[in-house]
Parts: sequence; C-alpha cells; structure tokens
Amino acid sequence: DDAPSEQFERRAVADIPVEGEVPALQSIVDWVNKVAEMTQPEKIYYCDGSDEEWSKLVDLLEQSGTVIKLNDSEMPNSIYARTDPDDVARVEDQTFICSVKEEDAGPTNNWMEPEEMKGIMRGLYDGCMRGRTMYVMPFCMGPLGGEDAKFGVEVSDSAYVVLSMKIMTRMGKSVLDEMVRLNAEFVPCLHSVGMPLKPGQKDVPWPCSDIKYIVHFPEERTIWSYGSGYGGNSLLGKKCYALRIASVMGRDEGWMAEHMLILKLISPEGKAYHIAAAFPSACGKTNLAMLEPTIPGWKVETLGDDIAWMRPGPDGRLYAINPENGFFGVAPGTGAATNPNAMRTIEQGNNIFTNVALTDHGGVWWEGMTAVKPPHLTDWKGRSWTPEEGPEGGRPDEKAAHPNSRFCTPIDQCPILSEDFNNPQGVPIDIIVFGGRRENTIPLVTQSRDWTHGVFMGATCSSETTAAAKGAVGVLRRDPMAMLPFCGYHVGDYLQHWLDMGAKQGEENMPTVFYVNWFRKSAEGKFLWPGFGDNSRVLKWMIDRLEGKVQGQETPVGVIPAEGELDIEGLGIDQAVVDECTRYVAHEWADELPRLENWFEGFGHKLPKPLAGELDKVRDAVKAQ
Ligand code: GDP
Ligand code: PGA
Ligand code: MN
Ligand code: MN
Repeated sequence: DDAPSEQFERRAVADIPVEGEVPALQSIVDWVNKVAEMTQPEKIYYCDGSDEEWSKLVDLLEQSGTVIKLNDSEMPNSIYARTDPDDVARVEDQTFICSVKEEDAGPTNNWMEPEEMKGIMRGLYDGCMRGRTMYVMPFCMGPLGGEDAKFGVEVSDSAYVVLSMKIMTRMGKSVLDEMVRLNAEFVPCLHSVGMPLKPGQKDVPWPCSDIKYIVHFPEERTIWSYGSGYGGNSLLGKKCYALRIASVMGRDEGWMAEHMLILKLISPEGKAYHIAAAFPSACGKTNLAMLEPTIPGWKVETLGDDIAWMRPGPDGRLYAINPENGFFGVAPGTGAATNPNAMRTIEQGNNIFTNVALTDHGGVWWEGMTAVKPPHLTDWKGRSWTPEEGPEGGRPDEKAAHPNSRFCTPIDQCPILSEDFNNPQGVPIDIIVFGGRRENTIPLVTQSRDWTHGVFMGATCSSETTAAAKGAVGVLRRDPMAMLPFCGYHVGDYLQHWLDMGAKQGEENMPTVFYVNWFRKSAEGKFLWPGFGDNSRVLKWMIDRLEGKVQGQETPVGVIPAEGELDIEGLGIDQAVVDECTRYVAHEWADELPRLENWFEGFGHKLPKPLAGELDKVRDAVKAQ
C-alpha cells in the first residue's frame, strides 16, 4: 500500500516548517534539507537533547501508543515499548557494506554496487516521511573534548530513536556547539521507519516496513537505514557508526573499533588492570562488564559493555575508550543474582524498556529478573500472561519477555562506573579476551602463546547464534573477534590489520590474549560453569599468569589452568565439574580442525600467512596428541 511509486504532492523544503534551533553549521543544514526534499516530512525538528525534550517526546509517543509510561514508584521516569513482532532484532541478511569494490566488503558481508543500492533506497526514501516529523540529532561518539572526537548527525522519523539516542550517545545542544566551534566533519546517518502516513491516516503503535535495509557506504562514511525501528538497526551511532564505519576509519588511521566491553579489575593488593573482551551479541559482555566478583578482595569497575575504540598511546600501548553513553542490554537473565550492578543501574530509572513484560503495577519484568514469577503479567505482545498458562491463546511455555528484549539505560547511573569513563585518553589495555557460546570443545579459559596466536584465537572464534539477530538460534558459526556482523570491510584485511597493529606497537606493548567459554555443557545439557560473578575466578587466573604466579598447563591450543590453579574456594561445585569445564579434549579438537580449515579457505588469498601458519601449528599439535 505504500509503494514507492505512489503519487503525492511534493513540497519545497522552504515550505516545510522547522522547529528548534537551526544549527549554525551550514554543512548540517544543507544535508538535512537534501534529506527533507527527498523524504518530505511534515516538519523538521532540530533536537537539543534536553530533559524537556525527553518529556515532550514521551508524551507524543504515549499518545501514538508506541510507549507506556511506567509507574514512577515502580520505575522512575521510564517508558516501555512493544515493537512489531517482526522487528525485534538486527537484520543481518539485510545489512550491506556498499564499498566501491566488492572485494573490499569481503566474503562475510552483503555487498551491492553503491549507486545501484542508492537507486533502490532513493526509491524507498522518496516521500517516506510524509505525515511524520523528521528529527535531527547531532551526536558525538566518545567523550566530548577529545582531540579526535567523532561526530555524527542522525536524521530519523522516529521519536523512539531520539529518546534512545539521548541515552546511548552524547546528543544535542552541547554536541552541536562543539561541532560549530570545530567546524566539524560528521557522519551523516539517515534513518526512516519506512511507513509514511497519508493525510488523516491513523498511525500504528510501532511503524516499520517489511522492506528493511541497513546500508553503509564506507568510503563516503555514510549510513542509510530503512524500515526498522529496532535499536541495532536504527540507533545509527551504535553498530553502524561505532563499529562498521569506525572499523574502516580505524583501518585507515591506525586504530581499532571493536565489539568489546571494557573493565577495570583491581586486585586485593590494589593493583589495577584493564581488560577488553569481545563476545558475540548476547554472549555475556554486559554481564562481565559489571561483574561483582565472588572472590574476596577483588573489585571491578565498568568502562563499557559493547564497543571499544583502541588507539596506540604515547607509550606504545593500546588505550581504549567506550564511544557510547548508555547500556542497551539484554533483559532476560538480568537479575539481582546474576548482574546486581545492572539492576542497581536500572532501578535508578530513566530507562527505555523494549519487548519485556509489563506488571500489573506498571513495572517491568523479564525471565530471570526474580526467582519467583509474578502471578500475572502482560507479555511482550500485549497478551495477558500467567506463569502456569503462558499467554492467552498461546502455549504455556511461551516466555513473557522476548529473548532479545532490552533495557536502555544511561551509563552514568552505573554504581561501579570507572572515573576514567569520560577520559578521552582512554585506559591502557592489559588483557584482551575473546569468547563465545560453545557447548563443547572450547575450554573455560586458554591463554595464547603470543600476539599472532592471540589473533588466530580471535580469527577462529565461534559461537552458537542467539536471538540478538533475526534467524535461527543455536547454530554454530565462526565469528571473528565477535565482529562478523560488524566489520565494515574484508575480514581478511581486518585480521591483517590486527597483525599489523601488533607488529607496529611491538609484542611487549600489546595486551595478552585469552579465550574463554562460559557456556560448556554437561551431557545432560546443563551449563557446567556457574558463570556471572564466578567469572572473576577466571579473571584472577589471567592476572596470576600475567604476574607469573601460576605456570598453567600447555595444550595444543594454548595454556589452560593446571590442577589447583583456578581459585574455586567457596565455589560450591565439585573439582570434577571444574575439570570438565577447563579441560582440553583431543577428540573434540580433532572434530574442530576441519571446521577451522573450512573457515580459513573462505578467505582465499586474503588469509594472512601468519594465521595459516598458526593453523598448521595447531593441526600438528592436535594430531600429535
Ligand atoms: P551481551 O549481549 O554480550 O552483552 O550479553 P549479556 O551480558 O547481556 O548476556 C546475554 C545473556 O547471556 C543473558 O541472558 C545473560 O544472563 C547470559 N549470560 C551472561 N553471562 C553469563 C555467564 O557467565 N554464564 C551463563 N550461563 N550465562 C550468562
Ligand atoms: P549486545 O548488543 O552485543 O549487547 O547483544 C547488541 C547487539 O550486538 O545486537
Ligand atoms: Mn553488541
Ligand atoms: Mn550487551
């Protein structure tokens, strides 16, 4: 019904009303006007990011039925949104890297010739904001005032996106002032839900389109997104800019944009270490970032839970910042027992909840929040729900919250936020951790032999798929550095960039690489390792290795904890179970080898030679056992 060819009366930009302060930066105004000419919004609204603006847009979204205001005494200043049931996750099939040359997108990205893609998308964008407000959001990724601050301007016809961007980025007047002062360049980020309104047409609570495109033009440093309101597809500062476009910037400028949490670990002796960890979506980053150690005397502070930008510092080491300003966390599984610091962060209010369940008192709930389920809820599809019967008209085992339901919460509410969070210099990284969800094969923790082996570990990282992306769940796939859906260029070139960074900075300056797996399962299909706060025991072993306090045990795939080295005091599980989590199993690795070979074959001539060499070493060692 909203075919792009549809006839409508086109307005000149001069006739489109403007609200808010027009930026004193002509480059923004020119681009905004060009977009308005194409998309034909009802009006243009320049956002200032203020609390007044938040309240005004919350009211608007409440009127349109997009959000419900939660009860302030349950959850202060917070809102709840239910999406269209088909718009609940990132759409990797519809995500494109439109580099000029196909080879630069590589085998792991969808590619289309840029002009061809623009032709398709101009057709979709043509008049797509009719009847809607076009919001303009100046934003900054990373602390304002850094010498190399990265700016963006997102244009969107969704007020939900505006509120989310206010939480997730530095957005609004202070950013614009800085952009004007610097006459700054910015990444133009165009977003539309792709559902124009005809005159008099009533809106739906969650407008979106069946046709979705999440498109990146890496050479132009431009992002075009169409058809989805879901965070990962619509908050363009996050995955699209801070990972896909920024990874290309990093390649060109000698730094790294990674899908990593950043934490500060403080030992009982008061020595501080910084750890960056890459796990695929819904594999434990937010939880590890806010870890509450179960071993006495150790402390964790949070710097980031999803994205790290790492640059060489004056001393040659890698320094990381978190470009974001909020958490966009997986709700299910988050509770006082698993992630108490996330609960403390959320309980302060100012949240946007999406696709969780609603309580009868105007609060929120999701599986894992509390051990005891509330007797009655409204589920993420708006249906009456009880623990015994599930949703009305549904199956009794249907969950109340969608598995990829999210909380969106300001990071400065985190009680253990590091004081370095706003430091534009970042923090020096001692340890890089890779991980994923593997029910077998991958030991609880393995240390790499050197930087090249560490890059190999990241390059061959794998995980069972999760609900964070549309598609089947639980399917094993390679996910190099947890960047498979986020690398803005050829993954072979990306791995070469990792090797180059090591060669340039020198082995002694690079972080030590470890590989973890919290998700190994017993024969009965239960997680062996208790995880969460007890992951501090694994972090402690890493530090003991750095400090030379433990020897570890050599295996064909790296160094694992030797017997007795993992601190399990008070853990409450048998040594036999610990052994099952930590061990190297030769026949499992014999099965893994052909999968690794198959993965590397897909790189063709772009496979960095040193990584082929690492595979040879692992193959020889596994076979020799
Ligand atoms: P992220 O998407 O990478 O940030 O992952 P989250 O930290 O949000 O975790 C995703 C899901 O995995 C949530 O349901 C968590 O409860 C669960 N999870 C996180 N850490 C662990 C762990 O150590 N063990 C187990 N079994 N589950 C975990
Ligand atoms: P996550 O972030 O990694 O915390 O799940 C969202 C995503 O990657 O889709
Ligand atoms: Mn992520
Ligand atoms: Mn997360």
